[in-house]
Amino acid sequence: MEPTKGVELWPVQLSQHAQQVDWVILAFTALLVVLVLPVFAAMIYFAVKYRRGSMADRSPSASRNVWLEASWSVIPFLLAGVFFAWAASLYFDLFHPPADSLGIDVVAKQWMWKFEHPGGQREIDTLHVPVNTPVELTMISEDVIHSLYFPALRIKQDVLPGRYTRLWFKADKVGEYHLHCAEFCGTDHARMGGSLIVLDPEGYQRWLGQAGADTSLAAAGEALFRKYGCSGCHGANSSVRAPNLAGVYGSPVPLDGGGTVIADERYIRDSVLFPKKQVAAGYKPIMPTFQGQVSEEDLLKLIAYIKSLS
Ligand code: CUA
Repeated sequence: MEPTKGVELWPVQLSQHAQQVDWVILAFTALLVVLVLPVFAAMIYFAVKYRRGSMADRSPSASRNVWLEASWSVIPFLLAGVFFAWAASLYFDLFHPPADSLGIDVVAKQWMWKFEHPGGQREIDTLHVPVNTPVELTMISEDVIHSLYFPALRIKQDVLPGRYTRLWFKADKVGEYHLHCAEFCGTDHARMGGSLIVLDPEGYQRWLGQAGADTSLAAAGEALFRKYGCSGCHGANSSVRAPNLAGVYGSPVPLDGGGTVIADERYIRDSVLFPKKQVAAGYKPIMPTFQGQVSEEDLLKLIAYIKSLS
């Protein structure tokens, strides 16, 4: 393993995405040089040619070439359009993680990063992932806005209180790399960083074994489901009429008052904290709020449990 510490002006390219981002930046810089150099050269040439006291001919030019004049607006516009399309397609990729991604939960707070693996392994400020495997992070903050930044992957995403954001990547080199907080979040913002450790598949399995987790996220969520009394109403043999949650994850939920919503992480989180906001059609708005009682980490576990019912 080659630790990459210290100031890095050009960090390693840890993924295909990182290579492509670098290509966009290099090519765009080259384009700018090509467009800007002639302008500066012409400015210097004319400044010298038409300096005060020079004998250069200053009479108005008789000829006018509209095509030439239009070309220096249209050509750079088209070239910039190519870059717009190229960069936009890279950007859209960021929002389309492969379906077989390994899901890892991230909870940020002043001033640490908490990572939780599906098997329940937890770590702080260090993230272990397997090489050549798509990893999808579901992220939320307990307090202020943070931003998770992996320079070697060329990706960065704000982590917000009250809302899940996502990030995915596929690291293709084993090693240890930096991760940082990239949004000023208080006194220790500068120290809110750590390491991304990319392991070969066997190494990752070994790490999972050593990291010591007694229960998977879904199992921990099931325990919470009983602890908070969710099972009292949502359980199979409950006397209260509440939606059965088996298979609800990812499916459309018709809402009271019209419309449907896909039961994703956001919807489940909102249903626990703000149950009156989007009530499922055919049910009374009798669910109490759990705002202030369930931590973000517990919410993610509850979501993992509900996902596991699908
Ligand atoms: Cu968290 Cu800056």
